[in-house]
Amino acid sequence: MLVRSSSAAETRALGEALADAARAGDRLGLVGPLGAGKTQLAKGFAAGLGVMGVVNSPSFTLMAEYEGRLPLFHQDLYRLGGTQEAMAAGLVDERQDAGVTITEWADRLGSPDTIDRLSIRFTVLGEEERSIELTGPDDGRHEGYLAAAIRWEARAGRSA
Ligand SMILES: Nc1ncnc2c1ncn2[C@@H]1O[C@H](COP(=O)(O)OP(=O)(O)OP(=O)(O)O)[C@@H](O)[C@H]1O
Ligand SMILES: [Mg+2]
Repeated sequence: MLVRSSSAAETRALGEALADAARAGDRLGLVGPLGAGKTQLAKGFAAGLGVMGVVNSPSFTLMAEYEGRLPLFHQDLYRLGGTQEAMAAGLVDERQDAGVTITEWADRLGSPDTIDRLSIRFTVLGEEERSIELTGPDDGRHEGYLAAAIRWEARAGRSA
């Protein structure tokens, strides 16, 4: 599904709404150019999970962990070389089965790592306008997120 955001605050609100659907083991992949709003969405998602404190891009560590309703693993793979490096860097870790992993620049991971993720793809339409496309594998696992996005859109009174 496709939604529109007209401000950073709206994108954070979308992230917060999506967190309502979070379940242990979920993985969300954020894709889009520099400054698209991936971190803004991650901040909202963290707030929705009840994470206290500031969530920024973990640029120098590749992954940061936060405590919320579920553990949150926030990854930023901008500087990642490839899938081999991701495995070596511990970016795929069984502890993530107990929490939610949200990954900026998820397209830096080759398949099959991208296959079972909810993909959230940003397109920059203007200074503050973004289109945000949510797609999941057709396995029913991510329907809760799509429903949350629909509720958010209805609340925001807008459509793509
Ligand atoms: N609709 C919008 N949604 C999100 N951010 C927006 C929007 N409009 C303007 N912005 C601004 O765009 C910037 C987005 O920055 P953010 O760090 O979230 O991008 P990013 O996709 O994580 O980039 P990077 O790849 O560098 O990590 C912020 O300065 C934010 O205020
Ligand atoms: Mg970022």
